[in-house]
Amino acid sequence: MNILIIGSGGREHTIAWKLAQSKECEQLFVAPGNAGTHQIATNLSIGVSDFKAIKEAVIAKSIKMVIVGPEDPLVKGIHDFFLAEEQLQGIIVVGPQQAAATLEGSKEFAKEFMKAHNIPTARYDSFTAETVEKGCRFLETMKAPYVLKADGLAAGKGVLILESLADAQNELREMLVEQKFGQASKKVVIEEFLDGIELSCFVLTDGKNYLTLPMAKDYKRIGEGDTGLNTGGMGAISPVPFASPEFTKKIKDRIIKPTMDGFQKSNLPFQGFVFIGLIKVGEDPFVIEYNVRMGDPETEVVFPRIQNDWVELFKAVGTQTLDQHQLQIDPRTATTIMAVSGGYPEAYEKGKKITGISAVKASTVFHAGTQIDKGIVKTSGGRVLAVTSFGKDHKEALEQSYKTLEKIHFQGMYYRKDLGFDL
Ligand code: AMP
Ligand code: GLY
Repeated sequence: MNILIIGSGGREHTIAWKLAQSKECEQLFVAPGNAGTHQIATNLSIGVSDFKAIKEAVIAKSIKMVIVGPEDPLVKGIHDFFLAEEQLQGIIVVGPQQAAATLEGSKEFAKEFMKAHNIPTARYDSFTAETVEKGCRFLETMKAPYVLKADGLAAGKGVLILESLADAQNELREMLVEQKFGQASKKVVIEEFLDGIELSCFVLTDGKNYLTLPMAKDYKRIGEGDTGLNTGGMGAISPVPFASPEFTKKIKDRIIKPTMDGFQKSNLPFQGFVFIGLIKVGEDPFVIEYNVRMGDPETEVVFPRIQNDWVELFKAVGTQTLDQHQLQIDPRTATTIMAVSGGYPEAYEKGKKITGISAVKASTVFHAGTQIDKGIVKTSGGRVLAVTSFGKDHKEALEQSYKTLEKIHFQGMYYRKDLGFDL
């Protein structure tokens, strides 16, 4: 079977690496891919939301399965596009249809979904430019810190957490009236602050049946001790040491099952990955957000732990037969550490030569922001490489990733040296 993966990050390199190990995978394509996917697949120079070019490539290369990595094409309706095009019938698309992708595309929609299906989440209300003063009054009924969320996709920057009421009211006005985040902040969700530790849970569903993947914890802040600006993710650990069997059962009963039942009841066609961002408050799980794709860098620790043939699993998504599969999970801990460009998540330089990757034996290096330039691997993004290692626990696995990172170099390279500090 010929397969196309859409995306260009560490998540897509990891998925490609798994699919390439399957006997059922004939030709593997990645659009647009990076220097890592270039080594195991054919990169196609096509943007992730260029549906017309994707269609042409799928027909020209006889592709029968498409895995959608990032949220943008899903929220724009790539799955619906495949269903509507006569020449694309019968092709398996892993990733939900637009109606379901709105769970990530609109925070208000996600909150309404949770409310409708009794899924534990923070108390909230949502506001527009017309109701901005009502929003300011609503803030007065809440306690600090104040959580403001732009309704739409804002490249991970749309959530503000503010200590003072006056700042929160000012920001609310800027978001709604000045459209601080453009269209994304035409609506703003204000919600109660939940105090706890975060973790991510992943589900693969075919629209009828589902499999629960290993959980992971990611580290979002740039600085050690979880300080500084938010990033796409600086590293991840799976399994999550504080997710005891009792706590995991609560997640399954109170969150995963009602979410899956909710898709049926609310008529949301979902074939793909559900990524549920959770927070543990006391001993109870609450949903912070839904994403309609795998996480990055969580994929770099979750996928290596799953030993199944991924082409078989994705075929089962297409034929709605996931109930005939069980996951084989490596019991060891996997950790990944992101090496990023100096300056990230603010301005940074690209085009720096990367050395040392080929000498790595004891870890797996997944490429994120890399490209091939005249045969040389160079940086091309903020998050550059994810170094994944296994160990009997997260300390041992992290130690290995740190040892590996000492061998890798590019000008300005930075990574956090304190992952796992909070466990
Ligand atoms: P989101 O884009 O919804 O995942 O929010 C980004 C980050 O903001 C989350 O990973 C949390 O760290 C934080 N956050 C979001 N909502 C809340 C909340 N209700 N209480 C506390 N922290 C939150
Ligand atoms: N690591 C968080 C995300 O993928 O959104």
